[in-house]
Order: sequence, then structure tokens, then C-alpha cells
Amino acid sequence: MSTLIAYASKYGFTKTCAEHLAKKLGDQVELCDLGSNQPDLKKYDKVIIGGSIYAGKIRKPVTRFCSENLKDLAEKKLGLFICGMAKEEDAKKQLEASFPRELLSAAAAAKESLGGECNYDKMNFLEKFIMKKITGSSQSQTHIAEDNITRFASQMK
Ligand SMILES: Cc1cc2nc3c(=O)[nH]c(=O)nc-3n(C[C@H](O)[C@H](O)[C@H](O)COP(=O)(O)O)c2cc1C
Repeated sequence: MSTLIAYASKYGFTKTCAEHLAKKLGDQVELCDLGSNQPDLKKYDKVIIGGSIYAGKIRKPVTRFCSENLKDLAEKKLGLFICGMAKEEDAKKQLEASFPRELLSAAAAAKESLGGECNYDKMNFLEKFIMKKITGSSQSQTHIAEDNITRFASQMK
């Protein structure tokens, strides 16, 4: 059984999480950056979709991919994840708002926030301003939700 991890990332943190998850899943896992590629879903039994959150919304390539492939995706064993600085209940709400109802309810075997990174070196002026407001800090920080990644991987196996 082969697994696809299709993701969209702006500054690379979601890509890092996708690669980390791929290692935990083991063999026959392929990664696809939805920002530059479109996968052929026929090749996979399991599909994991993830993206980072900006101003409450998941990256556009994820939204597009889900809506264009809704029917095919609903027939797979599905995992959905987000990356962002929000935690617990806020992260849960963001996840529920990020994917179509049809995928969240029936099909998804795993749903998690895998963590977030705030790297001021990579951001433009406006983004730095917004992130200082959100996090209340001007220090860069990285949070990889290791337990959530482990749980996600075991639910997808
Ligand atoms: C301008 C801006 C807005 C953001 N808005 C949110 C948000 O609404 N919710 C959240 O959880 N994280 C938010 N974040 C944090 C990003 O989701 C986080 O940095 C994420 O790890 C980025 O992943 P990426 O490098 O894969 O794009 C925001 C970050 C920036 C720079």
C-alpha cells in the first residue's frame, strides 16, 4: 500500500513536518509539493494532506487540491494536518475550518496540528509585525508537535 503526503508550505516548516512524518510512516511514502506539482491519486491507497495557516486560512494550493479532487479523496484512507502557531482548541478550530466537510467527517483517519515555526529571519516587515502581535514575542521559535506526529503516523498505518 503506498501513501502520498501532499503539502503546501510558504517558508518550509510544513515541508519539514511532512518529511518527518514520511520517515515515521516507513516505506512506500511519496511527497508532493502542491505549490509546484499535482499528484496522480490513482497510485495511492492512503493520502495525507497538509498545509500551513496564514491569517486563519490554509495555503491556497491545499484548498484547490481538495476541491478539485473531492470525490477521489473521499474514497482513500485520509489524513489531514495543519501547521501553525495556534495551539489546542484554536488549532483544532483552524483544522476544522481548513478542509471540506466531506473529508473531515467521513474519510479522515487522522487529523492533527503538527506544530509551527515563527522564523523572523524569513519574514517580511508586515509578517514580522503580525507575528509579534500573535506570539507576543520578537524571538524566533519552533515547535514540532512530536506526540501529534507519532499519533498521526500510527493512525495512518
Ligand atoms: C503573516 C502570518 C500570519 C499567520 N497566521 C497564523 C494563523 O492565523 N494561525 C496560526 O496558527 N499560525 C499563523 N501563522 C504561523 C504560521 O502558520 C507558521 O509560521 C507556520 O509554521 C508556517 O509554515 P510554513 O513555513 O510551512 O509556511 C502566521 C504566520 C505569519 C507570518
